Amino acid sequence: MTGSVNYGDRIPNNVDLGRDRVLQRALEHWQPQYMGWWYDMGPAESRGYDVYLRTAISVEPEGWAVFDYVKMPDYRWGIFLAPPEADRAINFGVNKGRQVWSEVPGEYRSPLRRLIVTQGDTEPASVEQQRMLGMSCPSLYDLRNIYQVNVEEGRHLWAMVYLLHRYFGRDGREEAEALLERRSGDEDNPRILGAFNEPTPDWLAFYMFTFFTDRDGKFQLASLAESGFDPLARTCRFMLTEEAHHMFVGETGVGRIVQRTADVMAEHKIENPDQVRDLGVIDLPTIQRYLNFHYSVTLDLFGSEVSSNAATFFTNGLKGRYHETAIQDDHVLAEAMYDVGDVAGGNVASKDVPALSALNARLRDDYIGEVQAGVDRWNRHIEHAGLPYRLTLPHKGFHRAIGYFADHHISPEGRVLTDDEWERGSRAWLPSERDYAFVQSLMSGRVVEPGKFANWIAPPRTGINRQPLDFQYVRFN
Ligand SMILES: [Fe+2]
Ligand SMILES: [Fe+2]
Repeated sequence: MTGSVNYGDRIPNNVDLGRDRVLQRALEHWQPQYMGWWYDMGPAESRGYDVYLRTAISVEPEGWAVFDYVKMPDYRWGIFLAPPEADRAINFGVNKGRQVWSEVPGEYRSPLRRLIVTQGDTEPASVEQQRMLGMSCPSLYDLRNIYQVNVEEGRHLWAMVYLLHRYFGRDGREEAEALLERRSGDEDNPRILGAFNEPTPDWLAFYMFTFFTDRDGKFQLASLAESGFDPLARTCRFMLTEEAHHMFVGETGVGRIVQRTADVMAEHKIENPDQVRDLGVIDLPTIQRYLNFHYSVTLDLFGSEVSSNAATFFTNGLKGRYHETAIQDDHVLAEAMYDVGDVAGGNVASKDVPALSALNARLRDDYIGEVQAGVDRWNRHIEHAGLPYRLTLPHKGFHRAIGYFADHHISPEGRVLTDDEWERGSRAWLPSERDYAFVQSLMSGRVVEPGKFANWIAPPRTGINRQPLDFQYVRFN
């Protein structure tokens, strides 16, 4: 980039970038590093492809409908904040009722920076995790969808970097560089949160990730969208519009795999997983094991059930609850209690703690309600095929590494287990090497003929932007 660049064109934005010299200088320095990261860690071998992508060019609804073929390195990563609300007040905590902050309050500088960096770190992490999947896509439609998710996660990184550059001075610029230096799964310099260092080795894992883990992103963004720091709130509100598509990709992706398996089982009147595998589709118990894994590592992302940090973020008005403004209570949580659950006397039992300290648990419970509804929709495919099998969410204490349950082995049904019982059982509850190898074996190459879909997944009901299913969603050139 040079000083003569037309910012509105090159970086679509509604933050008056063309007139903000300080921000321009920071971004001019960062942007080539970002492109270096994209070439190294973005989707493999995709540089020259024309991809039918949606680009946000404004925050108006019609600014969203811009679909065209784009080479991904030329994608216009823009900076957008939802429009300001006049006279918006802080809705919770000790600052409740005061005008929101348009600059960072000095006393909250460090926790705000931490919240922004932690959110920002997840965005490039998922791109890194998904880097190789384009090489084994089940269709052009799915290939285009993963690329759409990848460029938007890139834009989410830009969104957080904008906040760091614009509001946090030199520390912000250093944090923005560090966001490009950490690497998912790297032993020396890993991403900040555990689930973002797990591999995403295949498309079943990708759809599970976008269903479960991107949805954690949605809940975190929704809580930050309540923030008293108005630029953060407005940035997150705009990001949520993109996040919805990622979860659509995840839910329909798993749903189409379940549907295909159920249809094949019904057609051939078989239920034995080995026989199901012989027909080149993923058996339902393997799908359940993937679900158990992705669900449990995602629950860890919400943090410890009881957290003084979460309480401080809330009390100070930095991070609210899910749909805070719509909740009917005092928004201060002076007296309220909340049941976080714990292990007592060898059983899972309820445990009431001050609600203010249990905000992570509460956000996680809101999340669990939403994922349960998605699992119910997957089960309808199995039900329609006339099969008795049902996918279930394991108990929230199952396979946890963070919080009260981390010190215990809990079965999917919620029973406290001995080490031996866990050893024996976990082989049936979590994906094995054999499961991963089988799923890999189905995805050894990519399906690129327009309108064709791999055998292990059903076609979607409709195409993207009302295009037909046999549309050329990606041109390889
Ligand atoms: Fe994101
Ligand atoms: Fe996402």
